[in-house]
Amino acid sequence: MCGIIGYIGKQEAFPVLISGLKRMEYRGYDSFGFCIHDNENGTTTFKKVGKISAADQVLGDMKVSGNMGHAHTRWATHGGVTEANAHPHLDCKGSISVVHNGIVENYKELKKELEAEGHTFISQTDTEVLAHLIEKFFDGNLEQAVKKAVGRVRGTYGIVVLSKDDPNKIVAARSGSPLLIGIGEDEYLVASDPAAVVANTKKVVYLNEGEIATLTPDNYSIYTEREPQEIDWNVEDVEMGKYPHFMLKEIMEQPESLRNSLRGRLVPDEGKAKLGGLMPIEERLRDIERIYVIACGTARYAALTAEYMLEEYAGITAKVDAASEFRYRKSTIDRNCAMLAISQSGETADTLAAIREAKSKGVLTIGVTNAVESSQARETDAGVYNHAGPEIGVASTKAFTSQLAVLALLSLYLGRQRQLSLVMGQRIANELIRIPDLVQKALECEPQVRELAAKYKDCGNMLFMGRKYNYPTAMEGALKMKELSYIHAEGLASGELKHGPLALVEDGFPVVAICPSDSVYEKNVSNIMELKARRARILAVATEGNEDIAGIADEVIYIPKTLEMLTPIVAVVPLQLLAYHVALARGCDIDKPRNLAKSVTVE
Ligand code: M6R
Repeated sequence: MCGIIGYIGKQEAFPVLISGLKRMEYRGYDSFGFCIHDNENGTTTFKKVGKISAADQVLGDMKVSGNMGHAHTRWATHGGVTEANAHPHLDCKGSISVVHNGIVENYKELKKELEAEGHTFISQTDTEVLAHLIEKFFDGNLEQAVKKAVGRVRGTYGIVVLSKDDPNKIVAARSGSPLLIGIGEDEYLVASDPAAVVANTKKVVYLNEGEIATLTPDNYSIYTEREPQEIDWNVEDVEMGKYPHFMLKEIMEQPESLRNSLRGRLVPDEGKAKLGGLMPIEERLRDIERIYVIACGTARYAALTAEYMLEEYAGITAKVDAASEFRYRKSTIDRNCAMLAISQSGETADTLAAIREAKSKGVLTIGVTNAVESSQARETDAGVYNHAGPEIGVASTKAFTSQLAVLALLSLYLGRQRQLSLVMGQRIANELIRIPDLVQKALECEPQVRELAAKYKDCGNMLFMGRKYNYPTAMEGALKMKELSYIHAEGLASGELKHGPLALVEDGFPVVAICPSDSVYEKNVSNIMELKARRARILAVATEGNEDIAGIADEVIYIPKTLEMLTPIVAVVPLQLLAYHVALARGCDIDKPRNLAKSVTVE
């Protein structure tokens, strides 16, 4: 949830830490802080409430020198948003400094023990316990003290630790929260996110669960030796470039991200999908009778779309659960089932917990994730990467369309292992090839959506509705609207309207109806008529060439025609743009909506 970075090398640490922190700010943005050590001038610790991106003036006036340090951008869990609760946290002597991503679940008992031993706490955070625990075990060797301290911790942590009394060294440890080491020229970095290090180096080593690493100006060491890997994107991918917001950039990038998700994965003549990540389990997949799909937020809406795809084209019963619910129910999942986990970040705590629960029952686990070497990628038995490129905007956009494309590939793959015909397989494959261009076409609605946003910006409530494949699209449209603009919005199955929500509708009540020309179009139109009879205001998302809808709806946004199973990929585009422009018109902070953070690494 939080972003952490450490630097040791020949450069000044301050600018490296600040720019790394800015590129990681999407992980949390309540407050930030850093600690920089200089052998001559001592240590500078600084903390501030608010976003680092809004602190340019304060930071610009600062003169901080030193070649090693660490920094943190926070998403509050334990303790309010105050300077005292911002990281780094120090021990009693102010010698040991800790930045932390995760949650120390047993912090209360540890705090009680440490207080009884005379340690004084100044914050309400769980993290401060770590600083005092390391102090307790410190006898001149920081690695040893960190090792002993984390041995007492229950919960999750990615930590980066410095000590004035064991200088010229950074110690990092991970359990449940990601950490990687960046190997530069005469410099080493450690961070929770590749975005933080990519401006300095693309050579990285991801720490494994339970590992502790030591970084010095000349070297790094981890318990287990292994080859560094290359980050397969550039610093421009985590910068806004010509766009005012990451969200808009990522919406506009979708034709390209979809091309990358599909590249090399289709064999149109054979009507097949080629998914290298599933090769090791290819034979096991033939025997799978049911698939449990688990995910959170937007990824769950992709999962709900996959439920229709898998049942219709792969002929496999699919059941979707919110990852946060899965582990608390008595599930009927067994060895004839597979679990399919979907997560952009691959670090969502609820999703990881559900995967672990399924694995403990001997269930085959498959992951779809955008983050190479993420915890999800490491913990599932097999999987498919999105290759959508880094998604920085808190609101998920290009990851969602990429998930839908990958799930269509997966349905094709599993379908062709079963009863899906060659001809139908070829149709799906050929239509998937066209999808990036169709999304490019869908993006042409932006000027129209911008104008519509001005009309919808003062709404207090909105409904989004759709049927079959586009019921999840409606929920995704509503989620985008509420998380960005703070307008209350709900996504409904169109047929559910008359079972309650219709009571909300009065003169001018805004309803976005996703009604492409598909197998349920006529049914959708009936629901629109029911709404019109109650004087709702209808914004329809319909297929190009459908002129009738213009006579029924108040406004129409047209999307290109595609196969029904793929319509969500194009239909969601105007909904993303609508949420973006409504939020912009309302003056909301688009890339950093209140109370949220990109990656939810706490349960
Ligand atoms: O990284 P994940 O895909 O696991 O994240 C899941 C949700 O937290 C995420 O989709 C969230 O709902 C987004 N803010 C929605 O835009």
